[in-house]
Amino acid sequence: MTSNVTQPGDIREVAVIGLGLMGSGIAELIARSGRSVDAIEINQGFLDQGMARVRASLDRAVSRGRLTDTARDEILARIRPIDDVATGVAGADLVIEAIPERIELKKTLFAQLDEACRADAILATNTSSLSVTEIAGGTRDPARVAGLHFFNPAPVMKLVEVITTVLTSPETAGTLAGLSRDLGKTPVAVTDRAGFIVNALLLPYLNHAVHLLETAQATREDIDKAATAGLGLPMGPLTLLDLIGLDTCLAVLETLADEFGGTRYVHAPLLRKLCDARLFGRKSGRGFYDYQRKSTAADHELAPVPAEVALIRDRDGRLDELASQITAAGISVVSQPADETGLVIVAADPRHRVLDAALAAGHPADVVGVHFVEAGNGKPGLAELVLPDVTAAATAGRAAALAARIGLNAVTSRDRPGFLLEALAYAQFNDAVRMFQDGYASPADIDTAMMLGCGYPRGPLQMLDEAGAANVVSVLDAMHAATGDPAFTPVPLLAEYATAGTRFRAGAEG
Ligand code: 3HC
Repeated sequence: MTSNVTQPGDIREVAVIGLGLMGSGIAELIARSGRSVDAIEINQGFLDQGMARVRASLDRAVSRGRLTDTARDEILARIRPIDDVATGVAGADLVIEAIPERIELKKTLFAQLDEACRADAILATNTSSLSVTEIAGGTRDPARVAGLHFFNPAPVMKLVEVITTVLTSPETAGTLAGLSRDLGKTPVAVTDRAGFIVNALLLPYLNHAVHLLETAQATREDIDKAATAGLGLPMGPLTLLDLIGLDTCLAVLETLADEFGGTRYVHAPLLRKLCDARLFGRKSGRGFYDYQRKSTAADHELAPVPAEVALIRDRDGRLDELASQITAAGISVVSQPADETGLVIVAADPRHRVLDAALAAGHPADVVGVHFVEAGNGKPGLAELVLPDVTAAATAGRAAALAARIGLNAVTSRDRPGFLLEALAYAQFNDAVRMFQDGYASPADIDTAMMLGCGYPRGPLQMLDEAGAANVVSVLDAMHAATGDPAFTPVPLLAEYATAGTRFRAGAEG
């Protein structure tokens, strides 16, 4: 048993096994902190690739004036590339495993580490979602085994999940939390459950984005823009999938599906197809986007802006400002459509079909719904242009031209409840409440983890509070009614908070 308390400062030599995307980032991070790193791979080719990645990352920091040439060389000199596990880990105070997500590989490796490491060395796995308990199970001293989960890019993202099993000693967990702080990270302590906090919330959301793309709800660019412009996230979900690696995402989803079941974790067929085609994202040059070809997205020609727009105002005055913007652009606004109007705008509500408003307005082929989303933080909001399937293609073109003319930050969505932004966000909020309901993590830890692990400007539960639990429930109900998918049923605790008007993050900054 590990009984002596190791201080973070006592961890001087670290072995990182696996120099893929995560392992190379972790090696860089640790070497930057002044520690020595044995960087271990199974062959020279993988070692060269991993070291090239570390070098490129450090070179970028130098070119941005964040690091001097000398500091870069010193950091690199602290990393010793090795292609033999036993030699590499022999002197290590801490081993961090970052090899591919295959449980048999990890169990075999940990059994080997048991033999090859010093008795007082700590053994950590950077697994994204596999059972740390199962990985530790093959060792003689599971008290010294824990999860230490970093986020991509590891040198940048501030979160580390420290995962304990029922057998991990408090000393091991304490040392890893202290070390994380020493590396400039914020540790969040969690127990061993598939996906921990972040991946259990992130991956179903990413998968949902793939479903939306696959079912032609919107273009990949608009799905990504809804998340960045509407939610303030640093990257859209399809760009983030490409960053993480589609194979990794698929593997995490499969683990989540095995542990929790349910449609939310069933991977979108398109994700599997891209993996089968070995289009893994940035690391292979192409995923949802192509990183090898220069963008050929030449500005496609917009349709002519209509001379007259019919705008059906609602009692809430949601389109009043839009009417002023259109008038200010020299386009006349009428309240009743005529045959020659060509574009009829109605206020869209993510709980209701635009189709019904379109039929009520007459001229359904000419109707476009508009739904405004406030971005908060002083950033320009997002306008969702919602197209019922009966809307004519020419109408959609005119709406896009109008949006461009008056400077709306617009995305286009098919007419399905939740449209784009709420469909993505509210389903994730529901998952976050389920996690709290399950007693796995507190609302504060959930929000901290998503902010520091994925760069969210505010955590999902704070965003839920801002949107209003009752509103979120009613959009989810509409999504459930339209799709029949039980994954969108509001979880009981969310329904309870909505009824009681209780906030999840009462006291958190608004
Ligand atoms: N390695 C090292 N540093 C990097 C880097 C990399 N791969 N990518 C970016 N950086 C650094 C840049 O050098 C820059 O540093 P500086 O401010 O000191 O100059 C800083 O990060 C910002 O980079 P950029 O200006 O180039 O780009 P952005 O401002 O767009 O930020 C981002 C890039 C940090 C990746 C940001 O878009 C972001 O936070 N995205 C969300 C990422 C995310 O959600 N990660 C978690 C994924 S889940 C996961 O990893 C778990 C796993 O188990 C699946």
